[in-house]
Amino acid sequence: MRIGVLTSGGDCPGLNAVIRSVVHRGVVDHGDEIIGFEDGWRGFLEGHHRPLTLDSVSGILAQGGTILGSSRVQPSHLRDGVERAKQYCADLGLDAVIPIGGEGTLKAAKLMSDAGLPIVGVPKTIDNDIACTDVTFGFDTAVSVATEALDRLKTTAESHQRVMVVEVMGRHTGWIALNAGMAAGAHAIVVPERPFHIEKLTTVVRERFDRQKKFAIVVCAEGAKPEPGTMHWEEGTKDIYGHERFTGIATQLSRELEHRLGKEARPVILGHTQRGGTPTAYDRVLATRFGWHAVEAVHQGAFGHITALQGTAINLVPLGEAVAELKTVPADRYLEAETVI
Ligand code: F6P
Repeated sequence: MRIGVLTSGGDCPGLNAVIRSVVHRGVVDHGDEIIGFEDGWRGFLEGHHRPLTLDSVSGILAQGGTILGSSRVQPSHLRDGVERAKQYCADLGLDAVIPIGGEGTLKAAKLMSDAGLPIVGVPKTIDNDIACTDVTFGFDTAVSVATEALDRLKTTAESHQRVMVVEVMGRHTGWIALNAGMAAGAHAIVVPERPFHIEKLTTVVRERFDRQKKFAIVVCAEGAKPEPGTMHWEEGTKDIYGHERFTGIATQLSRELEHRLGKEARPVILGHTQRGGTPTAYDRVLATRFGWHAVEAVHQGAFGHITALQGTAINLVPLGEAVAELKTVPADRYLEAETVI
């Protein structure tokens, strides 16, 4: 079979492990020909592609980023994009396309699949917010990076008796904030799913200093917001693709806490460091399994599905189910963490 593969949307540790796995499973076990498209759907629509051989994926398992490059271009957002994609698919004689992407990419993939493109998706995002899969690869790496940063920030915070307000990624969900915050023993965690009350947050931090503790760590997901009307709040703007560009919750919150507590507070924005670098062992294994199962799905003709981790098994889930809603943090996880405000 002739199978196209591309990486689309924000990059994520483990993308190369999927690409490598698709090539290994396809070429070695099925005798497939694998074509890699550059910069996501942009390369697909502009005809930028190259054959992927065992040699071209040699040594990439542990590499961060994506050897294919990525972009946020989605054919379904362009005029005639889906029709053009179908035409290119036919011109190139592709039997299947495996897009590896997050929420936006999978939504676009569903539209293309509905239009007749033979698609098997592989979910990826450090945010871990894709429904139907228990975990997405990249998440474990992001949590590890954030946890290490939080551990390091404790010592400098203590030396200066400061509040550190640490912003982690998570546009719509607080998975990274919750897990990194729990792993590092953060004193307060704020997440997008639950608007925070600034008075409550201030009280939690103040009580800590009252107990003669010398510092406090507050972890906030970038998409978290205060309950309306409880503090001055600057909303974000949109980028050229309509994605929210946050104004920096850490900056706004640290300013507010410093003012309310009379204690020095510093914002720390971990940003794209959480997406960079080598994937953890967990993410390499999950990404490799997803690649393997995506090729199997292609050979079974199970188009219009994504690979998903459910328990310990990798199952196929219809694209429609996968993009129906985001996987938010369930409320009982807040109880376990104790410090979610
Ligand atoms: O979706 C993954 C993610 O890392 C989000 O957490 C974050 O808001 C966004 O991507 C940032 O994207 P960009 O690379 O376009 O700045």
